[in-house]
Amino acid sequence: MNSNRHFTYLDYPYEVTPLEKAYSFSPIPEGLEREKVPKVLGLGCQMWGEYTPNLTRLYYQTFPRIAAFAECGWTKAQDKNYDGFRERVKNTERRWRKLGYFNQQPSYAKQDDTFTLWQLPSQVNTIGNSYVIRTDDGQIIVMDGGMKEEEGYLRGFIAALGNRVDCWFVSHPHSDHIGALTRVLENPMGIHIRQICQTTYPETLLDREPGSKADAVSYYEAVQKSGVPTVEAEPGMTFSFGHTTFKILGIRNEEITANPYNNSCMVVKAWDPVKSVLFLADLGAEAGDKLLNGPYREELDCDYIQMAHHGQTGVSMDFYRTVKFRACLWPTPSWVYNNDVGGGFNTHILTTIETRDTMDELNITEQYMSFQGLTKIE
Ligand SMILES: [Fe+2]
Repeated sequence: MNSNRHFTYLDYPYEVTPLEKAYSFSPIPEGLEREKVPKVLGLGCQMWGEYTPNLTRLYYQTFPRIAAFAECGWTKAQDKNYDGFRERVKNTERRWRKLGYFNQQPSYAKQDDTFTLWQLPSQVNTIGNSYVIRTDDGQIIVMDGGMKEEEGYLRGFIAALGNRVDCWFVSHPHSDHIGALTRVLENPMGIHIRQICQTTYPETLLDREPGSKADAVSYYEAVQKSGVPTVEAEPGMTFSFGHTTFKILGIRNEEITANPYNNSCMVVKAWDPVKSVLFLADLGAEAGDKLLNGPYREELDCDYIQMAHHGQTGVSMDFYRTVKFRACLWPTPSWVYNNDVGGGFNTHILTTIETRDTMDELNITEQYMSFQGLTKIE
């Protein structure tokens, strides 16, 4: 059994053993005498776990290299073809993604039929909510876009993707969601937005949060002046961009008077044959319960869930216990994540720790926080 550590140790970093090197391994050592060749029964690949902190990391190290080793074992050297392998492993990778084995591995198999999702990092250590999607056919979708202070970063990001946004989904008019977009609408500086999809708040709803009204009104005015066409979201409405479908699962809930702006957030699910994401924006407990008991209950299950209201005082813990998902996206700065505004861990009034404990209870090992930097999901 050949388990040469320079090729087959799965605990070695990808920089040392990239997939192509793993695939190039031959269990028959070079120069081995002919009569000894049949004595080589196969290969071993080892995932030594003494320095592996968690299951996510173990999966990261193991997949997809394990598939390369399998082929080294059962395919004759002259029949091996790395490009062919990358093409064939694509389907297997999809299954692994569903099972949660794929997290931030370097992408070797070109997933050319799925969307890429970025969770933009928090730029000013505050609670901006900002996501960008590039569909398989290159269309660009933005969810919210963060605070006005995050405008520069967002502009740079969109510019790098071609300065065109095919659809901008706006969950609700709180400043940490529409601040940057308002600035872009007021002065596009080259960004072309094809359409905005939103759930417009009527005056009666806007008046329920006097402190937030001014920002909301300037956003609506900016939309109007910009001339960008808007689509008024309706539950069940779908949009197709390439192989990706976006479906509106929730819009404003004027009958809910508690936490009025957040409980009227638009909820959007995005999916394609490879993966799905549920964007809850700042949804509160009341609107979360309404969604759970509504017609779209089954459609809430997803691969990635965006934690409601930055992970605290959003939907109830029962919502997270009921909906099935395998990974979380936290649009959350570190002080919110740790409930620490200077007094130490969990000393403020935020309920983030309860949410974090619930994720642990649910064994969600794949979690991405915006304070840790840019997250790219392929
Ligand atoms: Fe909000």
